[in-house]
Amino acid sequence: MHVTASGTSPRIEPFFDKATCTFSYVVYDRAGGHAAVIDPVLDYDAKSGRCSTRGAEQLLAFLRSTDLTLDWILETHAHADHMSAAHWLREQAGGRIAIGEHIRDVQRIFGELFNLEPAFRTDGSQFDYLFKEDEAFTIGTLSARALFVPGHTPADIAYQVGDAVFIGDTLFMPDVGTARCDFPGGSAATLHRSISKLLALPADTRLYMCHDYPPNGRAVACESTVAAQRAANIHVHDGIDQATFVAMREARDKTLDMPTLILPSIQVNIRAGELPPAESNGKRYLKIPFNCL
Ligand SMILES: [Fe+2]
Repeated sequence: MHVTASGTSPRIEPFFDKATCTFSYVVYDRAGGHAAVIDPVLDYDAKSGRCSTRGAEQLLAFLRSTDLTLDWILETHAHADHMSAAHWLREQAGGRIAIGEHIRDVQRIFGELFNLEPAFRTDGSQFDYLFKEDEAFTIGTLSARALFVPGHTPADIAYQVGDAVFIGDTLFMPDVGTARCDFPGGSAATLHRSISKLLALPADTRLYMCHDYPPNGRAVACESTVAAQRAANIHVHDGIDQATFVAMREARDKTLDMPTLILPSIQVNIRAGELPPAESNGKRYLKIPFNCL
């Protein structure tokens, strides 16, 4: 552990899920100390409707081999491209599942779209903790903050831990650009404001991606800096104003297909990674709304 101008520097272990191009992280103060897991992935095979914990088991093995107490399971947002393993991980290792308080808006939007069961709650109570905008918290001896960065969804949080920020779906690596804003409740202008907030952090702040989709044969990468993004992000480098960004983002979003797993993922992730309740035959089902997205 070392100390920087912005506080104590965390130890960071990234994990990459090849099927969905998603990074999960274990963030911790020291071996034998305290940890948070950010955005754990539950494997899901859409062809068979079968999920598995093969990927999340790697996170669990790391927590155990490093003798870490899991304080937090942190979701940056309700992901539309993969299911969350938060519920399973809490059963295995404890910790509190947390997300931004505006998840309630996302639960309302998709609770209506999926016409979920009357008992489905839109008060965020499936999660153990809801962060208020820019709320401070701790991971063992590490100081952290839940930065409110909406736009991709109405509820996104970036987790600042010492001199590192786990930025969720806001920016991607500089040669990939930025997250889409066309899901229900998304807004390109709002995302631009959130990105400006991240890029106002000190130039050497380390930024950790939620995804990477490397172009041109580049190796997969999870880490960038504020300086690198301001210099070279293809969508929002210094000099691109909000109107230009919004026009680019909205035009580009019109060309994108829906993510393969958006319908399965959202209805699990707004339940904090718990599968929908069993029906009278003891089996659990996902719903597919016709002609809604
Ligand atoms: Fe996302």
